Amino acid sequence: MTNVTGRMDLQAFRARAVTSIAATETLEGLAEVEEEFLGRDSDLAAARRSLGGMDPDERRDAGRAINETVQDLEGALAEKRAVLERVQRAGEMEDEALDVTVDRRRLPLGTLHLIQQVTDEVVDIFVGLGYRVAEGPEAELAWYNFDALNTPPDHPGRLESDTMYLDYGDPADEVLLRAHTSPIQARYMELHEPPVYIVAPGRAYRNDTIDASHLPVFHQIEGLAVDESIRFSDLKGTLAEFARQFFGAATEVRLRPHFFPFTEPSAELDVSCFNCDGGEAGCRVCKGRGWLEMLGCGMVDPNVFLAVGYDPSEVTGFAFGMGVERLAMVRHGIDSIRHFIDNDVRFLRQFAG
Ligand code: PHE
Repeated sequence: MTNVTGRMDLQAFRARAVTSIAATETLEGLAEVEEEFLGRDSDLAAARRSLGGMDPDERRDAGRAINETVQDLEGALAEKRAVLERVQRAGEMEDEALDVTVDRRRLPLGTLHLIQQVTDEVVDIFVGLGYRVAEGPEAELAWYNFDALNTPPDHPGRLESDTMYLDYGDPADEVLLRAHTSPIQARYMELHEPPVYIVAPGRAYRNDTIDASHLPVFHQIEGLAVDESIRFSDLKGTLAEFARQFFGAATEVRLRPHFFPFTEPSAELDVSCFNCDGGEAGCRVCKGRGWLEMLGCGMVDPNVFLAVGYDPSEVTGFAFGMGVERLAMVRHGIDSIRHFIDNDVRFLRQFAG
């Protein structure tokens, strides 16, 4: 259909309009295109105005052609508008999208204190050897702290200068802050029949002035094995295995005679210096001695069995008690026990994770 109106080429006009619509990338641009091709000042509007001067037949054909063109273009504009609106909405959604995973507040996570880490590690080693974990009260009766453990009434440890009392005086119901974890031995045996294989971590209290190696509140791990034929060699073998797991596979142990009221014989366990491998003159860990004092131990005194209702003719056993601070200091080369309570994060962070 060409020159239907006599003045304009509708097909060419329509082709230009369709091309413009297709090339438009924005809704504003599309409104301009619409104005240009269908608006009051458009060629099409002019063509429509010219219809009045035509004879009826010509006007009908030309009018129909104009209307078809208008409809086609309005259809093309509507389609394009829908597309551009979808694109615009998608852009807005993207701009407004809220990413809830960014900028979240990160709270700094602390770590376990080295004392707790070492405690867990020691307990794990003994659990691996078949031991169970036991606990006892920190506020303890003098009976469990001393008497049940074969400690005589005149033992110097009983003095207020050594032990912290909550209720000092009448020996029958004295209450104190336990001076070691050994009372857990007596409490456990009172409530359980042999065999017994336990480790018992916990705080201990002594009336000590703070210096590089003493704190009035410190930590111990107690061990107790009671069975039908426990021997001194079992004690040594068990502690040697512990020392190898804790200090390294090459670690050796030696036992030196000592005294504790609740074990007989009693000993102190030394471990070979893991730093210099036995006696380098200037070693900072063992000071050239080659050995490190580690813990107290011994065979359970028959009087302790009697105090808790065990028959010493039926069972034997060994016990040991180690200081957690000391274990940590020796292994990590920490020069003062005070670091453990200073809470200086620069110190504590060194043992994170
Ligand atoms: N209770 C002792 C101390 O605190 C250690 C120990 C425990 C010794 C068990 C022998 C047996 O020094």
